[in-house]
Amino acid sequence: MKVLNLIAKTRSIRRYKESEKVSMKMLEYIAEAARVVGSAGNRQRLRLLLVNDERCDTIFKEIKFASALDWNGPEEGQRPPAYIVVMTDSEPDTNLAIDMGLAAQAMLMTATEEGLGGCMFRSFDREKLGKLLGKEPYMPALVISIGTPDEVVVLQDAKDVRPDGNLNYYRNSYGYHLVPKIPMSTLVLK
Ligand SMILES: Cc1cc2nc3c(=O)[nH]c(=O)nc-3n(C[C@H](O)[C@H](O)[C@H](O)COP(=O)(O)O)c2cc1C
Repeated sequence: MKVLNLIAKTRSIRRYKESEKVSMKMLEYIAEAARVVGSAGNRQRLRLLLVNDERCDTIFKEIKFASALDWNGPEEGQRPPAYIVVMTDSEPDTNLAIDMGLAAQAMLMTATEEGLGGCMFRSFDREKLGKLLGKEPYMPALVISIGTPDEVVVLQDAKDVRPDGNLNYYRNSYGYHLVPKIPMSTLVLK
């Protein structure tokens, strides 16, 4: 697959086939993408917690799903069967935040190529989840859910979604998750 197609396929997935477990071997394969990706000054300050056990329930309760939707997150049976928690030993500065973005996107693309899907989460209480995970001084800076997708996510041109330019994602009557993207003429400055 062309890298651009893989990027387009790598969408935020929030509903999963919860019964399809993600093995530790697969999580380690996905984590390898974060190991080899670039980082500011090659300092490699990120640490990862790979989770596919009962701690999934703990993480699920602490993260906020899709705040643009009127939705409390996936029902039992569609919850993430695994997570990769990106951890840092200090509040992320700008370089560390960029490092996290690179690592997260690389891992999500690797997961997508393997037929899995994922979503990044920044909406959680770092102190509370950090205490629950018990890896101090490393605290969670980004949570990534991983699993077999159980939803359809479609990219749309923003103009086809809403004339008023609102970029909020939404669900249509089939339950498809639609994600408006701005056109090239807006993205690229003249
Ligand atoms: C830094 C970052 C933080 C995010 N945090 C959350 C979050 O807390 N909860 C959530 O449901 N989605 C979260 N997302 C996913 C975005 O909502 C998603 O990327 C956006 O809706 C566009 O969809 P797409 O990823 O399929 O293009 C986050 C994405 C990024 C890049």
